[in-house]
Amino acid sequence: MIAARFENESDHRWSPERIPSVLRGNVNAPMAKSAVLLHESWNALRNDVETALERYVESAPDCPEPLGKAMSYSLMAGGKRLRPILVLLACEACGGDTTAAMPAACAIEMVHTYSLIHDDLPAMDDDDLRRGRPTNHVVHGEATAILAGDALLTLAFEVLARDIKPTRVAAACCADLASAAGRAGMVGGQMADLEAESSEMPTLEQLEQIHRCKTGRLLTSALTLGGRIAQADDDAFNALTTYGQCLGLAFQITDDLLDIAGDVETLGKSTGKDVAQGKLTYPALLGVEESQNRARDLIDEACRSVEIFGDRGRRLDALAHFVLERDH
Ligand code: IPE
Ligand code: IPE
Ligand code: MG
Ligand code: MG
Ligand code: MG
Repeated sequence: MIAARFENESDHRWSPERIPSVLRGNVNAPMAKSAVLLHESWNALRNDVETALERYVESAPDCPEPLGKAMSYSLMAGGKRLRPILVLLACEACGGDTTAAMPAACAIEMVHTYSLIHDDLPAMDDDDLRRGRPTNHVVHGEATAILAGDALLTLAFEVLARDIKPTRVAAACCADLASAAGRAGMVGGQMADLEAESSEMPTLEQLEQIHRCKTGRLLTSALTLGGRIAQADDDAFNALTTYGQCLGLAFQITDDLLDIAGDVETLGKSTGKDVAQGKLTYPALLGVEESQNRARDLIDEACRSVEIFGDRGRRLDALAHFVLERDH
């Protein structure tokens, strides 16, 4: 019921009144100009990403129909498209051609979507609602959901290797994304996240390590992919890396906070799961207020790091504020 309602109205999340005040452009807010810029262009960027993803996931001759359907089901279910937009904005900040970055934008969204499908499996977080729809395994069955995740992961690298030019940059992008998604990145973080459910004396270092790996590495890769495609110099690349690391950690802190105080329909996923499953989260360890402070400090640091881009970095700046104020 919730899923059907949400699906029909998914665009309501992007109406002007739902955009946080800083993105609507309060004239008194220092970020007003960039906020307006981001708001005006967010939907356009999202639409471009949707179109490109649709084309990539169109059925391939030898792909079994149930597998293709399960892949599209999750990939084309909406979502904020934050990571692909970050690829494009990072490329833009470095003065690169954003059209050339679109294959990387799509590739990282495929990896992210695979991570969500697997994260929701009964053996992992056992969730039944994602992006406003019943989770992949609920609709398509567990085995097909696992395979849909596998196929999205591998398609991502096919797209990067084939469509990023020149080949040298494509290879660097493949290595970047593989490292971010793999054993010392997202997958490693997911392992640590599961292990921490039974941790008796969790520490802040342990928590931060989990969040940096399971969420921060992939988000940082969005920035560095954009930088690589724009052939960014060292200073620009380092600035993007710092921004990504801070944003990634802040993003998971707000995710943890939304699991406590968020609205199921707005989020498109269930809430209250972290406490129920004994997850090691920021609010569980530090409390809500301290977690909010930590997220704010990280966003400030992220914004400082992209000052070197001047006007070209304004949309990255605005996006960081969205992450702090987001309700979905
Ligand atoms: C959810 O990511 C999983 C986390 C890493 C916290 P998003 O909040 O970006 O999910 P979508 O892509 O918008 O559905
Ligand atoms: C998952 O973190 C991060 C991933 C690598 C998918 P969560 O388990 O908190 O994400 P949600 O809340 O289910 O989206
Ligand atoms: Mg999880
Ligand atoms: Mg989860
Ligand atoms: Mg969560």
